[in-house]
Amino acid sequence: MVHRTYGRLEAVEMPVPAVKDDEVLIRVKAAGVDPGAFHRMAGTPYLVRLMGFGFTRPNQPVAGGDVAGVVEKIGANVTRLKVGDEVFGAAEGSFAEFVVAKEGMLARKPANVSWEQAAAVPTSAVTALRGVKVAGPAKKALVIGAAGGVGTFLVQLHEGEVTAVCSGGKADLVRGIGAAHVVDYTKDDLGTGRYDVVYDTYGNRDLKVLRRRLTPNGTLVLLGGRPTGRFVGIGRTVRALLLGPFVRHQIKALFVFPTTQEFDDLGERLANGTLVPVLDRTFPLSEAKQAIDHVMAGRAKGKSVITL
Ligand SMILES: NC(=O)c1ccc[n+]([C@@H]2O[C@H](COP(=O)([O-])OP(=O)(O)OC[C@H]3O[C@@H](n4cnc5c(N)ncnc54)[C@H](OP(=O)(O)O)[C@@H]3O)[C@@H](O)[C@H]2O)c1
Repeated sequence: MVHRTYGRLEAVEMPVPAVKDDEVLIRVKAAGVDPGAFHRMAGTPYLVRLMGFGFTRPNQPVAGGDVAGVVEKIGANVTRLKVGDEVFGAAEGSFAEFVVAKEGMLARKPANVSWEQAAAVPTSAVTALRGVKVAGPAKKALVIGAAGGVGTFLVQLHEGEVTAVCSGGKADLVRGIGAAHVVDYTKDDLGTGRYDVVYDTYGNRDLKVLRRRLTPNGTLVLLGGRPTGRFVGIGRTVRALLLGPFVRHQIKALFVFPTTQEFDDLGERLANGTLVPVLDRTFPLSEAKQAIDHVMAGRAKGKSVITL
């Protein structure tokens, strides 16, 4: 599924990509869908284009960024993986039958995890893992967007008590993955409690509203944002960074680029069953656009995945 120009996704026959020395070729079994796939397809906010994705048209024409599949071929300098290994990780252009990835951006898929579950992990679970690390050993946490792609991993990865914020119909889902309490934002916004850490994955609330839910030395972790403008789209993040030095609360805004160690860490958690991806919908490759639209509707119940 290819976007040769911003905003248009089409099915195209392309040659199987060539493998560089530090890369492997993967036969794709499943590809995760997240808001990043939309931003790279749409080229909005325009800041995305300045971040190296291509100014007038996408540099990487094939959509998608998360993958689970089988190693088909390895480059000359690849040492950790061999042909036939089952892997998951980050691979630009994963909405395709084949994709290449850097060896360091992949981990082995544990046998107890399905292709769909493994493809759900890379971007969203690394983002959640990084959020938990920057928050430190916080005791009580509020997770906003707890039933979404990043939120369902945060609820599982945070080590202290979690209060999940989601719409009421998803209360059982978030309790099932470990939330001790649930706040239905449609009735009670963020509730009245105070927390050592507030993770915001949804991104539509003012900083003042979020900080009111923190204990005096609490940490606010901003993981997502609803882009409000076509140009920069990260106004709240910029405001948070400017405000940070002047307030007692710690404010952390994350842009996550994954590491090999994080994929290995997540692989171990999947293997020992302490992390279980929550799957929302699956789509065939030909419906990649519908998959992206479904995620961007903002009502996810875990992760949506494209299967091949
Ligand atoms: N920092 C990074 O590097 C990074 C990496 C990956 C993703 N992200 C960002 O993280 C954000 C979340 O991504 P995601 O994949 O988790 O999104 P997602 O799967 O679409 O989940 C969004 C969740 O928010 C809930 N929600 C909707 N309206 C809400 C409201 N008003 N208040 C509270 N919750 C509400 C939705 O369900 P219910 O309302 O029904 O509960 C849904 O479960 C995106 O902005 C994405 O771009 C950032």
